[in-house]
Parts: sequence; structure tokens; C-alpha cells
Amino acid sequence: MNITEETKVGEIATQHPMATRVFSRHGIDFCCGGGVPLQTACELRGLSTSDVLGEIEHVLAGSDPDLDRWDEAPVADLVQHIVDAYHLPLREELPRLESMARKVARVHGDKDTERLGGILETFLRLEAELGDHMAREEDVLFPEILRHGEGSDLPVEPFVDDHSDAGQALAVLRELTDDYQVPEGACNTWRALWHGLEALEQSLHLHIHLENNVLFPRVGGAHATGR
Ligand SMILES: [Fe+2]
Ligand SMILES: [Fe+2]
Repeated sequence: MNITEETKVGEIATQHPMATRVFSRHGIDFCCGGGVPLQTACELRGLSTSDVLGEIEHVLAGSDPDLDRWDEAPVADLVQHIVDAYHLPLREELPRLESMARKVARVHGDKDTERLGGILETFLRLEAELGDHMAREEDVLFPEILRHGEGSDLPVEPFVDDHSDAGQALAVLRELTDDYQVPEGACNTWRALWHGLEALEQSLHLHIHLENNVLFPRVGGAHATGR
């Protein structure tokens, strides 16, 4: 695939998974906002498209082109991968982050009431929505996908809408945490929370990308978005 400024961000992420490192580095949205050309995505972030193209080429030059090409894997393998690599770890990670967010808000709330309270509130809403969302994927959507396979015409829009909500919550968290810059004098739990939330963002972006841009176009028929 020849990547140009006209190539859609979601397509680049699908066909060259390593390029998502460059997107994450620059805050380029490749999951919910992956339907736009690279140039538009760069303009939105105030970046030079040619510089970003150069970085993508650099990353791809040192990577295995076949690494994680989930668009070519059987649909059942992709579903299993999403559950194993993203759903199961999330179920462990979310309660851990919740207890840290509660602790930091409780112990340090007096120092930064508005931000820490906002972070806790946004996180708790995201956590509840994700729990419900993953359960609906595993109990309803994924079994349907396994039953009907590639080329089926399943209604995926509600799931895409949930992904957009999650993406917005992540953007709010990034803003409230000042791009995850640890404040001066922050305690270890505070540091660990910032680090954990940033890792959550990175993993959710990849998770949503695999569903929106790779899985759903293969099973959502006319309903699918992202490509
Ligand atoms: Fe999922
Ligand atoms: Fe999902």
C-alpha cells in the first residue's frame, strides 16, 4: 500500500499497524476519527503532513510488514484476539484504576478539587459504559459474528456510537490530566494513576480501531463505518 496524504488514517492503521505508534505520539485519532485523509487529521492537530508521513515511513522501514495484519486473519481469530488482548485485561485494569482514582481524589482532592473530581467522575462513567458495552459485544454481537461470519449484515452502529462516547471520555481525561504530565510533588499513586490512564487510552484506541476499522467493515455490511 502506497501511503499518501489522501490515504485515510483508519486504512493506514489497518494495513500498517505499526503506524499507530506515530498516530499515538501525535494524538492523531485513528479509531473513531479514522475515516478522514491523513492530511485532514494532521491539519486538525496542527502538524505537517509531510513530517508525519516521514515518521510513518521511518517506523515501517524497521518493522515486520505482516505483524498483526488482522484484516487478513479469519474473523473468528480476530474476535478471539479482541477478547483476549483487550476485554479480559480491561476487566482487571478498570477496577485497579478506579481504586487509584478514588484514592487520589480522596487524599489530594483539597489541592485540585475541580480536576481530580472531574477525572474521577469521567473515569467512573467510562468504566460503567465499557463494562456494559463489552458485555453486549461478548453476549450478543460476537456470537452473531461467529454464527454468520464474514459478509454478514449485522447492526453495528450502536457499538460504533459507544466507541465515540468512549473516545470523547478519553479526550476529556487527557485534557484534565494536562496530557498526562505528572504534577510536581505528586505521590506514587497519583503518578501510577496518570500512567495507568495513559496506557488505558493507548489500549482503547487500538481496541476501538480493531473493531471500527477492521472487524465491523467485514461483518457490518452496509452499516459498517470507518472505511
Ligand atoms: Fe470491544
Ligand atoms: Fe467495542
